[in-house]
Amino acid sequence: MAIGVKALPFTFVAHGLGLAGAVMVLVWCIYYLGGLAFESTNKNLIFNIHPVLMLIGLVIIGGQAIMSYKSLTLRKEVKKLIHLVLHAIAIILGIIGIYAVFKNHNESGIANLYSLHSWIGITLISLYGIQWIYGFVVFFFPGGSATVRSESLPWHVLFGLFVYVLVVGNAALGFLEKLTFLENSGLAKFSSEAILVNFTAIVAILYGVFVFLTAISQSSQPEDDFSYSSI
Ligand code: HEM
Ligand code: HEM
Repeated sequence: MAIGVKALPFTFVAHGLGLAGAVMVLVWCIYYLGGLAFESTNKNLIFNIHPVLMLIGLVIIGGQAIMSYKSLTLRKEVKKLIHLVLHAIAIILGIIGIYAVFKNHNESGIANLYSLHSWIGITLISLYGIQWIYGFVVFFFPGGSATVRSESLPWHVLFGLFVYVLVVGNAALGFLEKLTFLENSGLAKFSSEAILVNFTAIVAILYGVFVFLTAISQSSQPEDDFSYSSI
């Protein structure tokens, strides 16, 4: 899958947006929401781990993993290793982030899995895990036959982008949900915090757009393009 433009400019924009998004979510959760903690009598601090790890983990590092084939000029075997390791880090941070919100709910007497965001979230982390295991087994170890690998690859790319786009959408849903809770408890609708949260979600969506554009554009190493014969 490739459109006739170079990926590199999209990758640069994505990196800038990723950095901005990471800073913005940290400023929100540390400066406005009071900080991050796994153990605290203030259970909100346990919740705060959730947006930070979901955005930096699944969205930003997951996006870096997808872009690694296009943003790096290394040997394909090396890029494959970077791709699978970055995706593994994204999944681990995602699981810890979801664990944090379950912990916050359990210790605060709040029900689990009642919202659309949480249902989509559980589905996505499961699909992400399945995609990773399938990718690992077919493309890395033990590795499928040449036919299985080349036939699987377009599906791997399609399914990977599909899950990633939904991850970004669900992160936006999460920001909306938390901001609505805060506004219902008295936060002013046009306060600097409310505007920061909306802009963080916009930056996350734009980051997702540029990751997607990077993935469907041409590599700076021309031999990589349309190379769906895996190594
Ligand atoms: C894309 C990555 C994300 C995934 C996969 C995800 C997944 C989840 C899951 C599974 C829960 C349910 C936990 C439970 O029921 O105990 C949850 C809760 C929650 N998440 Fe996320 N989340 C993501 C990003 C975010 C972001 C960026 C925010 C922004 C603040 C957020 C806000 C919330 C809130 C407010 C809850 C508690 C209310 C509820 O259960 O819906 N999430 N999330
Ligand atoms: C949840 C985890 C994963 C997701 C979301 C994902 C997603 C993607 C996407 C979107 C692409 C297209 C990138 C591009 O063309 O720029 C891709 C390519 C690829 N992925 Fe994954 N991937 C995951 C895990 C893995 C794993 C564990 C492996 C094992 C090595 C793997 C191997 C590959 C290979 C070989 C390519 C082909 C690169 C090429 O020939 O252009 N992926 N992946």
